[in-house]
Amino acid sequence: MRSQISTGPSRIRTRSALLLGGVVIALFAVACGGGSSSNTVPESSDPAVAHGQQITGESCGACHGTDFNGVSGLGPSFFDNAFIQSQSDADLVVFIKEGRPNNAPDNETGVAMPPFGGNPRLTDDDLSDIVAFLRTLQ
Ligand code: HEC
Repeated sequence: MRSQISTGPSRIRTRSALLLGGVVIALFAVACGGGSSSNTVPESSDPAVAHGQQITGESCGACHGTDFNGVSGLGPSFFDNAFIQSQSDADLVVFIKEGRPNNAPDNETGVAMPPFGGNPRLTDDDLSDIVAFLRTLQ
């Protein structure tokens, strides 16, 4: 194709259209968190789960994502989470109450998980609803 000397305006237009398309795709990937897969919350008719989803969004969303897919450099995703799967409901309530200091041996990010996710007003009922909600994401 190098033998073809003429690069008419239509070719240039095609090229800039391709370039623009590439930019749009790149911006889209950035907007979607670097193209990482994004899980959606399954439907549930359980009022405990619905309440759990609401307070998890409010109290935990800043670090774990308001869509619960995690925030890069902060809290990990709640979907298909091996730690959540490895804990009993009671253990998870204790974990959320205590958090995980950034110097804990099992801390993976170097960022602390604050006790109660930083919201000490959460009651035991709230925490059990949060756990019920987290279970639906596994
Ligand atoms: C200020 C930020 C922040 C908030 C708010 C927060 N977390 Fe976290 N959370 C973290 C970080 C950071 C980690 C990962 C710690 C590590 O590196 O081991 C974490 C870890 C966790 C884990 C363990 C996951 C794993 O894969 O090890 C669970 C479960 C969890 N958080 C639940 C919650 C819940 C429930 C709330 C709300 C009540 C909450 N978090 C609020 C920052 C936060």
